[in-house]
Amino acid sequence: MHKEIHEQTLTIKNTLKGRSTESSVLLHGLLEYWEEIYKAEKIYITACGTSWHAGLIGKNFIERFAQIPVHVEYASEFRYNHSIMDNKTVVVAISQSGETADTLAAISKANDFGAITIGICNVPGSSVSRETNCGIHTRCGHEIGVASTKAFTSQIAVLYLLALKLADSRKEISKSEMKKYLMRASGAVQKDIKALFRKEKSIKKIAEKYQNASDFLYLGRGLNFPVALEGALKLKEISYIHAEGYPAAEMKHGPIALVDKNMPNVFIVPKDKTYEKIISNIEEIKSRKGKIIIITDSKDKILRDLSDDLILLPRTNQYVFVILATIVLQLFSFFIAVARGCDVDQPRNLAKSVTVE
Ligand code: AGP
Repeated sequence: MHKEIHEQTLTIKNTLKGRSTESSVLLHGLLEYWEEIYKAEKIYITACGTSWHAGLIGKNFIERFAQIPVHVEYASEFRYNHSIMDNKTVVVAISQSGETADTLAAISKANDFGAITIGICNVPGSSVSRETNCGIHTRCGHEIGVASTKAFTSQIAVLYLLALKLADSRKEISKSEMKKYLMRASGAVQKDIKALFRKEKSIKKIAEKYQNASDFLYLGRGLNFPVALEGALKLKEISYIHAEGYPAAEMKHGPIALVDKNMPNVFIVPKDKTYEKIISNIEEIKSRKGKIIIITDSKDKILRDLSDDLILLPRTNQYVFVILATIVLQLFSFFIAVARGCDVDQPRNLAKSVTVE
């Protein structure tokens, strides 16, 4: 798992490689169906677990850039829901392994309804690759660790490209904006991830401090809500500590009842339009004596004052921030699990690919 976390400096680069020019996105795997895809009236994204979290980030990207309504559904629910689909609907199925039974069942339902199915998958030749109309490979190399890490960030990178390509074809974005977003995508990520790994020792130290906690809350807003969900899932999977992810503001509608002096709360706090609001969410937890761990790119004193521990990320844009915060949380879970003596590569009760419904 540690090796795969570290591979992310290269895997994201591989995912993006050759898939854009200066101001346009090239996704050859979608070419045959592109006309129907970009004219879609709505999109469903369906997946399980970590891949479902990537789907939530994809929804944000597609709605923001391309202005197409997106519904994200657990594949196991999609199969039985009364989804409204026809040949103007695109269904994007995301799966690292390409063999997840629930996701395959969701694809089969979408195909039966005549929807255009796109697979985002890491394994060429897998069932997801074969059973969708078209697709994009994440190209992050074989992922062995049961807890998905590098596949998740590559899924995010692919969804970013897909959203920009949709926006371009639908004329929702100018060429100069495309250029700006694509330039940021390629150069910045690698450099920032390398800078982040230089903080690994301090992340380890913070993780070890909280190794005996029995429950965690992970809180983020917007793009960072799915990052919070993913951070909580990663911790549960490999350390067996109970953890929940929430949109930061939802915490006051119930989960705050759990907070006491023993409860660590991980806040993901980029300096964006929700910054002030999230500070008041932190203050609410602080006043109930909860422990505050902050992941941020802001050097503001208020965050240092409010936090018990703070991980400062390089100042970057909001898309790269999502990747960096995810990697911090992967390392955080990893070091807690190792400190608790858990087998991080083969956690109990889990399989790399879930082939039963
Ligand atoms: C991720 O850490 C998990 N092991 C799990 O949630 C996984 O993401 C899920 O089972 C879906 O797998 P897939 O991406 O291979 O379809």
